Amino acid sequence: MTESANTPAAVSDKDRVIIFDTTLRDGEQCPGASMTMEEKLEVADLLDEMGVDVIEAGFPIASVGDFESVVEIARHAKRATIAGLARAIPADIARAGEAVRHAQRGRIHTFVSTSPIHLEFQMRKTQEEVLDIIKATVTQARNLVEDVEWSAMDATRTPIDYLARCVEMAITCGATTINLPDTVGYAMPEEYGAMFRAIIEKVPNADKAIFSVHCHNDLGVAVANSLAGIAAGARQIECTINGIGERAGNAALEEVVMALGVRRDILPYQTEINSRMLTRASKLVSAVTSFPVQYNKAIVGRNAFSHESGIHQDGMLKHAQTYEIMTPESVGVTKTSLVMGKHSGRAAFRDKLKSLGYELGENALNDAFTRFKSLADRKKVVYDEDIEALVDSGIATASEHIRLVSLSIIAGTRGPQRATMEIEVEGETRAQEAEGNGPVDAIFNAIQALVPHSAKLELYQVHAVTGGTDAQAEVSVRLEEDGKAVTARAADPDTLVASALAYISALNKLQVKRQSVNAQSVAS
Ligand code: KIV
Ligand code: ZN
Repeated sequence: MTESANTPAAVSDKDRVIIFDTTLRDGEQCPGASMTMEEKLEVADLLDEMGVDVIEAGFPIASVGDFESVVEIARHAKRATIAGLARAIPADIARAGEAVRHAQRGRIHTFVSTSPIHLEFQMRKTQEEVLDIIKATVTQARNLVEDVEWSAMDATRTPIDYLARCVEMAITCGATTINLPDTVGYAMPEEYGAMFRAIIEKVPNADKAIFSVHCHNDLGVAVANSLAGIAAGARQIECTINGIGERAGNAALEEVVMALGVRRDILPYQTEINSRMLTRASKLVSAVTSFPVQYNKAIVGRNAFSHESGIHQDGMLKHAQTYEIMTPESVGVTKTSLVMGKHSGRAAFRDKLKSLGYELGENALNDAFTRFKSLADRKKVVYDEDIEALVDSGIATASEHIRLVSLSIIAGTRGPQRATMEIEVEGETRAQEAEGNGPVDAIFNAIQALVPHSAKLELYQVHAVTGGTDAQAEVSVRLEEDGKAVTARAADPDTLVASALAYISALNKLQVKRQSVNAQSVAS
């Protein structure tokens, strides 16, 4: 972390911890979290800007879409190393090499299981056969790129002497990073640290590689295990934003970064992460995956800096450090300001956006400012969160084939609920009335009649951006058509208007997708 809440001990290069983010690979692997290529690019750009050292962008052999996302992210990345995952299979490694060669710094991350249970039941291979596989695949990867990471899947359930032989072999064949994952989330911090100490001591060429931790959270100790691994000599942490990942998830990036920053007195290690971007990263990943962040989530939960009890509030008023171990500002939670309203000018708005981490071009700024003014006319107080939602949904609806013109709803106990809607499609105005099983259903039926389509609604989710009855509602809608999914968000003080806007925005995104697929098939 570039700034710390605690007195830094002297930090040298050997105390530098590499942050390897796998939100787009291990994170995306968890059910329901799949992201579109545009969403992955948006996340990758933000991770790169935030100072993540290595972005694991995907698993190139898994699908054409995954391959293309890794290529695009590799082309875009300014600073980070881009990694592509590969099983210990020659075709996987070749495909990962093909994808990451577009990066300024590319890495092949190849893995094979090493534990007896995986060898016997899943791989049906002997220990000696797996050693031969490591030799062949790490050598192949190293012939393609300089930067090769090798992972011992299920390392924490592997006998230490055999694990040491595997690690030695991988380093001999050119692996520059050795990752020892707690794949099943079984280890306890002391054991995990002891495994690194033993391996670093036993393996004769251990000094030729950087050791890495990769912890799953099945027993809720992924972050504690990661920190124990670092204290035992590892210098790379594999983690994900909001801790998303297989089953119970991976170690959360924001938690390991802040633990290292806040407790630098006993964990004297340094990362390059700009911690002020953590909240933005959390919100973006939550929005594109539609995975809500639990309210009491460490660092980025909405309650992480709220103080409810009288005793705590009293302490906070007297001295913030009585109940706060880090400032909200250090993780990008700006103290909510009440000054933005209908009298605020463009300069103040631009300044506010800057403080929230947005640098918009002139057109996007003008568009956001117009929508801010319209919101300020309808809402007494415009909070920072409102502005973020407004800008984020503006980014999401940048290309508008379909535009909402007007909407009125009849809702209530007497039913049937009815929506009257006017939209513009490529400049042509269309109007429709529809009934539904509730007002949202009526709106979606009206849209279906106005813009006939075969997309299926996979997710509809509403949350209030701030507190109060005049809070903006942020609606996420995920549509799926021919195996392609898009997620769109929209915010408005009227939940039903936000619902219509989000659905229309998703249709606009699908339209962009269809056009790019058509363009590709014409080109090929
Ligand atoms: O959990 C795990 O073992 C993994 C490997 C592919 C590194 O994700
Ligand atoms: Zn994993």
